[in-house]
Amino acid sequence: ANDKGLIRDSWERLGKNKLPHGTVMFARLFELEPELLKLFHYNAAFSSVQECLSSPEFIDHISKVMLVIDAAVSHLDDLHCLVEYLVNLGRKHQAVGVKTQSFNAVGESLLYMLECSLGPAYSMELREAWVTLYAIVVETMSSGWTE
Ligand code: HEM
Repeated sequence: ANDKGLIRDSWERLGKNKLPHGTVMFARLFELEPELLKLFHYNAAFSSVQECLSSPEFIDHISKVMLVIDAAVSHLDDLHCLVEYLVNLGRKHQAVGVKTQSFNAVGESLLYMLECSLGPAYSMELREAWVTLYAIVVETMSSGWTE
């Protein structure tokens, strides 16, 4: 129960506009796994991380990711509501070439962003609460992968 409070408070603390935080998260993701840049090619391949991070389509993707996290935070008491959506979302990511292992780096990037954005409010307890929530989201998305 305390975990839920920590997650809700910390998410709220990021402010209404989550986009800058999402940008920090994806900039970190491309540092950890530069190959992921290739999976985002809306019209043509991006020639640099900077180009990708400033393209409207990619910025839309960042917003979409933040909305999914927002939905998870809003549904901490009834995450089962999101299962069908997340399984289907996983299926779409398999279709665009994402490997489930890459979600580890996404998780690291999420924690990195939270640490940067929350500063002293980022604690080990908070970290563990987010790790648990993220694991549920990723496990559910991963069940959308088929051989
Ligand atoms: C769609 C890539 C992680 C949420 C997409 C698309 C690509 C993509 C190429 C299709 C184009 C687009 O809509 O922009 C990736 C990669 C990821 C990643 C490479 C990291 C390895 C995530 C995560 C979430 C997410 C962690 C949310 C938790 C979405 C959503 C869509 C989407 C909501 C739109 C799906 C739809 O059209 O119904 N992603 N994604 N993505 N992604 Fe991701």
